[in-house]
Amino acid sequence: MTFAIDAKGLEKVYKGNVAALAGVDLEVKAGDIFALLGPNGAGKTTLMRILTTQFKPTSGEAHIFGLDVVREGGEVRKVVGYVPQETSVWSDINGYENLLIYAKIYGLPSQSRKEVIYDMLESMGLRAAAEQLVKTYSGGMIRKLEIACAMLIRPKILFLDEPTLGLDPAARIAVWKKLASFKMEFGTTVFFSTHYMEEANAYSDEVAIINMGKMVTSGTAEELKHSLRGELIKVSVSDHHVDEHTLGLIRGLKQVNSVVVADATLIVTVEDAETALPGVMDVLRSAEIPVVRIATTKPTLDDVFLRYAGTTRAPGAASTTERVEEEAGGDHRE
Ligand SMILES: Nc1ncnc2c1ncn2[C@@H]1O[C@H](COP(=O)(O)OP(=O)(O)OP(=O)(O)O)[C@@H](O)[C@H]1O
Ligand SMILES: [Mg+2]
Repeated sequence: MTFAIDAKGLEKVYKGNVAALAGVDLEVKAGDIFALLGPNGAGKTTLMRILTTQFKPTSGEAHIFGLDVVREGGEVRKVVGYVPQETSVWSDINGYENLLIYAKIYGLPSQSRKEVIYDMLESMGLRAAAEQLVKTYSGGMIRKLEIACAMLIRPKILFLDEPTLGLDPAARIAVWKKLASFKMEFGTTVFFSTHYMEEANAYSDEVAIINMGKMVTSGTAEELKHSLRGELIKVSVSDHHVDEHTLGLIRGLKQVNSVVVADATLIVTVEDAETALPGVMDVLRSAEIPVVRIATTKPTLDDVFLRYAGTTRAPGAASTTERVEEEAGGDHRE
């Protein structure tokens, strides 16, 4: 099987002896949307620059669709699109003119350039702004224009370094809709870095976390969250004494790791709250203990990030989400 990205033992030591990558192994399947997470300075941009042939690795090797990024750089560049972390369009010319420059750099045939550019502007929702100077664009429009530039050659793989940094939620959703549509329409592989855990959670097929130049974990977002184990079910009971016998029955359930009672709330530790909850409820129902409220907490990707890459999130950022479910409604929402 040919991977979209296949890297082994990549190391990068910058001048001044900064070891930005310290032996990175990576496999990305063709057609996947792959999220790269990691704290500031972890090596995300360095890795992307090597994979897009802008920097040479100090040692190790990497292939893009089987092409060696060092020995076959020219061929690699024909299948790669790249949207850097910093702004990559010119602000003193309009959107169309920006795309025209890229079309010339990429060597698109002159007779079809205009049509290709206007199609791309249309598909990114920028047709109406095509003749406007880029300095009048919003942040979201600029990011879309940069993606349009990178997509001009219909690359097999698109690298995006923090594609939605600083965008409002609506603009972020619009960018992601577009990226997902490239995957659907053209089978484009998308490799992106982000500090927004919820984006990695929502849009990626696979996630990897890099820390201090080393990959520390990878898998689907679900796998990574599950790997933390230890979800909680909190059941509030109305003014009712939960007797030792009932607690014993709950403790005896196969999936239950521990049970404690605090302020008329049972706190049950399980590996998977969704599958353990029915058993716990059955015991309480048989004991005729009225339930007022149920909440489950699951590890989030934030928790995974914190576990593997330390505490670099903004202070006050929530690390778990609480799902509250009313017993009467009985629906289990995510
Ligand atoms: N051109 C350079 N010369 C010297 N050191 C560099 C250079 N570029 C990056 N570094 C260093 O390499 C390390 C990795 O930087 P890199 O930009 O790859 O991190 P990053 O994960 O992209 O961080 P961020 O989330 O802040 O964008 C850092 O210690 C950084 O200071
Ligand atoms: Mg970076």
